[in-house]
Amino acid sequence: MHSRTAKIALVSSHPEVYEPCDDSFALVDALLADRTNLLQHHPSICMEIGCGSGYVITSLAVMLGHEGFVPYYIATDINRHAIRATRETMDAHGVYTELVNTDITSGLEKRLAGSVDVLVVNPPYVPTPEDEVGCEGITSAWAGGENGRSVIDKILPAADTLLSEKGWLYMVTLTANNPSEICLEMRKKGYASRIILQRSTEEESLHIIKFWRDSDSELELNNLNYWTKLVMN
Ligand SMILES: C[S@@+](CC[C@H](N)C(=O)[O-])C[C@H]1O[C@@H](n2cnc3c(N)ncnc32)[C@H](O)[C@@H]1O
Repeated sequence: MHSRTAKIALVSSHPEVYEPCDDSFALVDALLADRTNLLQHHPSICMEIGCGSGYVITSLAVMLGHEGFVPYYIATDINRHAIRATRETMDAHGVYTELVNTDITSGLEKRLAGSVDVLVVNPPYVPTPEDEVGCEGITSAWAGGENGRSVIDKILPAADTLLSEKGWLYMVTLTANNPSEICLEMRKKGYASRIILQRSTEEESLHIIKFWRDSDSELELNNLNYWTKLVMN
């Protein structure tokens, strides 16, 4: 991962906190490319899972901040240093976010169920030994376990619980995570999906996928299952 300059002016840093990198930049670029839709979407609650330095959620708040409406922002991270870094980054840009030091969305499901209109996630997606997942400090920023899917597979049902009827999820994935399988998993939950940005670096091929609820997806899948059963019997 080579370094580029963040698009917002000030990003807090700490040795134990993930420094914005190509994946963070790709996610913000995807959000910027979708900015007109995001503005028309009028999100009431925007959320980030795994906020790290706060680069992504602050960029989102800045890009949506000039049009007269102010969504409520909330972000979580399992790393307490990341919570402090995000607070500093947001303060530097005059935006407010509720910050919660927790595992994914633990403790927030009851309060936020069905109410998040925009959810952004750059998860730990690097394939690693399973025992590195959820380690203290910086390792938890990238350690994704088998196929890089351990944390992603916990985020998907949490996203389904939290997203509103009109909710959108933007998530970074790596080819090794098997993005088409992730899309199929979400399709089973009734979501359509689209790759809105694809970026290859020297080290990895990233996809930023957008998910939204679509009853036709569920219908299509039911039809597909029905026809598959018919053909197989
Ligand atoms: C790849 S970094 C992304 C950081 C930041 N969003 C960015 O794009 O620059 C992943 C972040 O997820 C956090 N994280 C890892 N496992 C988590 C979990 N189970 N719950 C919440 N946050 C988690 C890490 O601490 C880290 O800050």
